[in-house]
Amino acid sequence: MCGIVGYIGNKSAQFVLLRAMEQLEYRGYDSSGIAVLDDVINVYKGACRVGNLRNSSPRFVGTVGIGHTRWATHGEPSKVNAHPHLDCGGKIALVHNGVVSNYRPLKEKLIAEGHVFLSETDTEVIPHLIEKHYTGNLEQALAETIVQLKGSYAIVAIAEGEHKLVFARQQSPLVIGIGESEILVASDIPPLLEHTNKVIYLEDGEIGVADQNSLKILKNGKETTRAIVPIDWSADQVEKNEFEHFMLKEIYEQPRIINQALEGFFHRTAPVIDAEFMRYKKGKGLLIFACGTSYHAGLIGKYVIEELLDIPVRVELASEVNHRERTIPVANVIAITQSGETADVLTSLSRLKQAGCATLAITNVKGSSVTQLADKVTYTHAGPEFGVAATKTFIAQLMELYRLALLQQDTEENLREQLIVRLSQLPDLVQSVIDNQDQIKACSRYLTRFSNVFFIGRGINYPVALEGALKLKEISYIHAEGYAAGELKHGPFSLLQQDTPVVAIVNRDACYDAMVTNIKEIKSRKAPVIALVQETDTEIPGLVDFTIRIPVTHTLLSPIINTVALQLLAYFAAKFRDCPIDFPRNLAKSVTVE
Ligand code: M6R
Repeated sequence: MCGIVGYIGNKSAQFVLLRAMEQLEYRGYDSSGIAVLDDVINVYKGACRVGNLRNSSPRFVGTVGIGHTRWATHGEPSKVNAHPHLDCGGKIALVHNGVVSNYRPLKEKLIAEGHVFLSETDTEVIPHLIEKHYTGNLEQALAETIVQLKGSYAIVAIAEGEHKLVFARQQSPLVIGIGESEILVASDIPPLLEHTNKVIYLEDGEIGVADQNSLKILKNGKETTRAIVPIDWSADQVEKNEFEHFMLKEIYEQPRIINQALEGFFHRTAPVIDAEFMRYKKGKGLLIFACGTSYHAGLIGKYVIEELLDIPVRVELASEVNHRERTIPVANVIAITQSGETADVLTSLSRLKQAGCATLAITNVKGSSVTQLADKVTYTHAGPEFGVAATKTFIAQLMELYRLALLQQDTEENLREQLIVRLSQLPDLVQSVIDNQDQIKACSRYLTRFSNVFFIGRGINYPVALEGALKLKEISYIHAEGYAAGELKHGPFSLLQQDTPVVAIVNRDACYDAMVTNIKEIKSRKAPVIALVQETDTEIPGLVDFTIRIPVTHTLLSPIINTVALQLLAYFAAKFRDCPIDFPRNLAKSVTVE
């Protein structure tokens, strides 16, 4: 959840760290801090965003340092709980992302030994343990420390008198960027891109030691060599450019991402996945699991795979898979996670893998933790996503699910051809939703008058209703619930009145007549209805209060177009309410705690 960075090179560490931290802020933004090493360790931190830290910070000289942006888990956002944390003597400083699950007994023991703690964090045990083991060699002290830690961590540490960065990871991401006379380590790739596109992914249990020109990686105490991987993301992709928010930029990128996905449709890694799917048919069944928006992609994937391949698919929330007493009886599993770092997904995946399942991960981030865990990996190629609200990565996940299903030989030929034609039209159709945003904006403005909104859909558009509700509540703070349209009368009808609008997603498909009936039932309770309808629909506009007209496509592809409209609906509602759209309160982009 937090973002960590370390720098050693020939530039001002303070300057590089603050810039990098701004690019990691989507991982957590309730506090921030830096430590820069010259003759001593200089620390500056606070319960503030990076911009404020930059404006108030004294100038430090030094070309080695560490930085942190926090999403609080242990202890409220405050100066004392902000990272970096120090040992008693102030000679060792470190930043940490993850959770040290056994910090209580460690802390009690350290206190009994005379260590003085300042914060409520789990992290603070680490510099004290390092201090305890320190005899003049930071990597050795870190190696002796990490064997005592349980839980997850990515750590970057510095020590007075040692001109180097020392770092380690276990189930939390850490990427090393190799620049010209400089080395950076960070939780994610974007802050590295201004310096280099050559990276090394540190693996679980490894320790790295970097000075300006050299890097050493240690595994079980022995030096190991690791390949340098070129990154195809550019520094430009991590800028907002002319857009006010990353979320809007990422919504606007979607036609291009769909186009790009179509270009690669029948090439990338296809044979491998193909063989896997055949095995799924003979096995006990297929389970897809994920969290949040990725879970909604999984629900849509279920409809697509069942329809095209006639394979029964089960979809579960990862947070409901990982703590079950008995492992779910399936043979093959797909984990969907844009970040590749979501803790619930990773623990579920490792549990199912241990139980003997064949595992496939769909992710957007190369080298992320899920790529190290799954048997097979396929990428969504959406480029970096910064808005905390997932948009383009969701659409890219859907494109990948369509690709996986359409590649199978069992897909009925006519349907396959129909879908391929319709898929090729999607970039233009999505563009037209974006171009016709005024109709959506008007509905967003209307929604800002209310405190509660329902989103309803049926069939493949039921998960779209869930996603529409999630987007609205996440960024505009208007409470919203996604419901299967047929379920409203089994309880939520009691809430329907004039001040509870319902957004209905209606497609001309097998669910159409039932949706019309549901809308009439809602209108009889005087609740306002906004309907997302196909532009050729002549019946629904006469029944509802507002209509958002959407281009026509095949039902199986309609979630793409409908979701883009709902992303805009949420975006404008949040903008009218003046919400911090890219940094919604209490959230973070990458949820690395269970
Ligand atoms: O990185 P992941 O796809 O595993 O993330 C899962 C959820 O945390 C994520 O989709 C979250 O729900 C989004 N912020 C919703 O917009």
